[in-house]
Amino acid sequence: MKQLMSVVLLGAAAVALVGAVGTDSGISFEYHRYEEMRKALVSVWLQCPTISRIYTIGESFEGRELLVLEMSDNPGTHEPGEPEFKYIANMHGNEAVGRELLIYLAQYLCTQYQQGNETIMDLIHNTRIHIMPSMNPDGFEKAASQPGEIKDWFVGRSNAQGVDLNRNFPDLDRIVYINEREGGANNHLLQNMKKAVDENTKLAPETKAVIHWIMDIPFVLSANLHGGDVVANYPYDETRTGSTHEYSACPDNVMFKSLARAYSMYNPVMSDPHRLPCRKNDDDSSFTDGITNGGAWYSVPGGMQDFNYLSSNCFEITLELSCDKFPTEDTLKNYWDQNRNSLISYIEQVHRGVKGFVRDLQGNPISNATISVEGINHDITTAKDGDYWRLLAPGNYKVAASAPGYLTVIKKVAVPYSPATRVDFELESLMERKEEEREELMDWWKMMSETLNF
Ligand SMILES: *[C@@H]1O[C@H](CO)[C@@H](O)[C@H](O)[C@H]1NC(C)=O
Ligand SMILES: *[C@@H]1O[C@H](CO)[C@@H](O)[C@H](O)[C@H]1NC(C)=O
Ligand SMILES: [Zn+2]
Repeated sequence: MKQLMSVVLLGAAAVALVGAVGTDSGISFEYHRYEEMRKALVSVWLQCPTISRIYTIGESFEGRELLVLEMSDNPGTHEPGEPEFKYIANMHGNEAVGRELLIYLAQYLCTQYQQGNETIMDLIHNTRIHIMPSMNPDGFEKAASQPGEIKDWFVGRSNAQGVDLNRNFPDLDRIVYINEREGGANNHLLQNMKKAVDENTKLAPETKAVIHWIMDIPFVLSANLHGGDVVANYPYDETRTGSTHEYSACPDNVMFKSLARAYSMYNPVMSDPHRLPCRKNDDDSSFTDGITNGGAWYSVPGGMQDFNYLSSNCFEITLELSCDKFPTEDTLKNYWDQNRNSLISYIEQVHRGVKGFVRDLQGNPISNATISVEGINHDITTAKDGDYWRLLAPGNYKVAASAPGYLTVIKKVAVPYSPATRVDFELESLMERKEEEREELMDWWKMMSETLNF
């Protein structure tokens, strides 16, 4: 069976190579309008049916599908212990480079997998990767429909209702900043508010669809791709005081800087210390090594990046990939060359920190258990199978697993740069503990009564 499969795969690879004349490993460097994007994703699926799947998370305001290509050795299922990753591009419809790069990335992963590239095979065997080239397909069509090569800076940025999707997410920063001062949850701030989201008429359909997606899949790491500048931007995006520029560290600041750096360091333009600002008057003073804190650059309330971190276990950064939002087609291969290694390197970051399972003494998974790290005021929770992934920079940590009705367990963990350290927790339920204590008491009582002979 295995052998037959590889013959079929080789056959498909040969077809792909024949069809790829004049392109770089099956990639055609051109813009894809909505129908073309759809066809390109379907071609990847047809070429790599055993490791990919296409699904949609909903529809845009004008009824275009929000398509996702999933790449995994088990498409369609969450494998216990395997982390989930996502890329989202083009939430600003006129920022076109990220959209194309994600289509090329899908083609690259498929072709490299078939050619037996071990880096890519390892990645796909150990990660569930979700790729959404366009979160705002309506905006893209509007931007792409403008005549001529030069596109306007704003046309197509918003969705078809005129909503800027990266200002449209529930503003959880405000809540966490209050909780920092007055006490309160530091994670999953939208818990038990699914209904409120569905009934909120201010949320665009694209935003709602992505919120549900974030809630439904245990994503660990993510990036959203933009254009208009060249930098990797990390949380928080919204400043604490409301001022326009202010460094706004989140509790995982050290790890987020490391994640952003894992992207920028492989992009020669982004990491170039002598790169001139995109436009003469741009203020890039907060950029170092091709990365910036979001708030230090400029404050963004209601953004998707901070929403991921504060509503779920998912760490997200924002990638600005090009000075031009909609550059000419002949430059697209250049952007791919600049970003290919970064795009792969960033996915690999999902395999850092501490990971494992939380179970009870009988070996049953405990879902929604809390994983907390001493000194970092941001907890994550276990997924359905009791599995968890806690991204952490290298160092020594005390990691605690707790759940209502169980005794908390704390473990000391040494974390290297990568791969993630495996740490499993077995929690004793308080009921079991009471039962044990009762039995001990009974034994003691029996012994006493025997000794004293009454
Ligand atoms: C395999 O993929 C990695 C990651 O993209 C890349 O750096 C490497 O050059 C590829 N190897 C071959 C032989 O193409
Ligand atoms: C998860 O646990 C938290 C805290 O223990 C609780 O408030 C929340 O309702 C739980 N969520 C679910 C979906 O069970
Ligand atoms: Zn943008």
